[in-house]
Amino acid sequence: DGAQTFYDAVGGAQTFDDLTSRFYVEVARDEILRPLYPEDDLEGAERRLRMFLEQYWGGPRTYSDERGHPRLRMRHNPFRIGPMERDAWLRCMHTAIASIGPDRLDDEHRAALVGYMEMAAQSMVNAPM
Ligand code: HEM
Repeated sequence: DGAQTFYDAVGGAQTFDDLTSRFYVEVARDEILRPLYPEDDLEGAERRLRMFLEQYWGGPRTYSDERGHPRLRMRHNPFRIGPMERDAWLRCMHTAIASIGPDRLDDEHRAALVGYMEMAAQSMVNAPM
């Protein structure tokens, strides 16, 4: 039927593109996070996060077409993610979410997105302190 997905309700591809490009602007200048990513290329990581989030929220399934099952916790095993890395990631993500205006992200959708990111970031922690 015609039930609208979260993806459509918040503005579709444009919103997810804006969200992830702003997120990686923040990552690029974050001294805790930047060293975890390849020195010469944040674009690949940006694209994978964008595709994953689009798929998670009901948009195109390109992520799984290209990458298979997300298995995100396993894919983060190579990186040491403690509370500091988690908080840095969330700081960048909060800034990115705040950059999307209320015309696209109303209070309810904004709260759902923030709640999900906080849960997901916590679930990626694989090291104490
Ligand atoms: C990949 C760091 C949380 C989604 C990566 C990579 C790093 C990283 C270094 C490899 C970059 C690359 O793909 O080239 C972190 C840190 C986190 C965090 C420090 C702190 C908690 C999250 C969360 C999500 C997420 C909460 C989802 C909501 C992804 C995705 C990939 C990825 C989709 C690409 C996986 C793949 O297909 O290979 N992350 N991440 N990350 N991250 Fe995170």
